[in-house]
Amino acid sequence: MKIGNLDIGNKLFLAPMAEITDSSFRRICKELGAGLTFTQMVSAAGVIKNDFETLRNLSFHKSEKPIGIQILGKDPDIISDAVKEISQLNPDLIDLNCGCPVAKVTSYSMGAALLDDPKTLGQIVNSMVKASGGIPISVKVRLGRNFKKINVIEVAKSVEENGAALIFIHARTREEKYDAEPHWEWIKYVKESIKIPVVGNGSLFHPEDVERMLKETQCDSAMIARGALGNPFIFRRYNMLVENGYDPGEPEIDEVRDVLLKQVSYLEEEYGEIRCIDKVKKNIIWYFMKYPGIDFLVDKIFSLQNISSLKSLVTEHTEKIKNNYYELNLNNDLHTKFKRRILFWLDNEKAI
Ligand SMILES: Cc1cc2nc3c(=O)[nH]c(=O)nc-3n(C[C@H](O)[C@H](O)[C@H](O)COP(=O)(O)O)c2cc1C
Repeated sequence: MKIGNLDIGNKLFLAPMAEITDSSFRRICKELGAGLTFTQMVSAAGVIKNDFETLRNLSFHKSEKPIGIQILGKDPDIISDAVKEISQLNPDLIDLNCGCPVAKVTSYSMGAALLDDPKTLGQIVNSMVKASGGIPISVKVRLGRNFKKINVIEVAKSVEENGAALIFIHARTREEKYDAEPHWEWIKYVKESIKIPVVGNGSLFHPEDVERMLKETQCDSAMIARGALGNPFIFRRYNMLVENGYDPGEPEIDEVRDVLLKQVSYLEEEYGEIRCIDKVKKNIIWYFMKYPGIDFLVDKIFSLQNISSLKSLVTEHTEKIKNNYYELNLNNDLHTKFKRRILFWLDNEKAI
């Protein structure tokens, strides 16, 4: 897929996810075939204040290119100053977050609240385009505030008229957050209404979901979020499906272990041991979520305090899975309880 002069090579983007799409995870997804990855959202105000954590969250390795940086804000002047700063880093795309539904963001008229006023949103995009020095500007939107107030077509036309190079459509409304079935048909309606590339997003968990979304909506590319958690293999599987006509299926457990341990090493390199421990545990759980023995892993993991014992646990757990040590005890009740505990966005919006 091409965005201006940039050819991203394939049709898959890794979505921005707060506290998740750090450099370690982006590198792994890229190695496994993601065409373009994203930083998590960073505050435009934080960028111009040179806030240390903000700058850290938007930094990337050159080898990660092509990469997008996503900003969060509402004030056109602050956003345009932030875009000027960010363009110095030469990312391949600068995106405006118009989808975050969390109250602490929308109550400050940012994120999905920007959808309420497509005209002002267009002006913000215009100021970003003028400030970016030619780096393409995108917006990531939802369908509207709720199902009665879907205005994504008006929003899409406004951002296109104001110079956006592409648009990401998360096919849910602001009020639906993450639980509802996405309404992919709106991706199709947007695609039929504008000329800039449209990237679809929402519940892509398997390679064939990507294939179906592209076919049903005619969107130009697809963006994967939760479907990549503990599952960066989804990028390779989809690319092989396209290139060779078959999906090679789930990876061998040895490869799952190796990729996970590589991500742990990248994280440690990036953040040092203490912060790595803090960040890595949820990733370990996601990688092993679909295998037997997950309850055992969850019970053990939280008490571990150093990287070497975490790595040993990963290796030991893998061997036990290979040797059928765990009973196949993924009964529905246990699995549901487990998912509510781990997939924190289901009922705890504070986490994001
Ligand atoms: C934990 C988490 C963090 C997220 N953080 C961001 C973010 O920083 N910026 C953004 O635009 N979307 C964010 N999202 C939304 C995703 O990018 C994506 O639009 C959404 O999860 C729908 O895709 P999915 O159904 O494939 O998960 C986040 C989602 C999750 C689950």
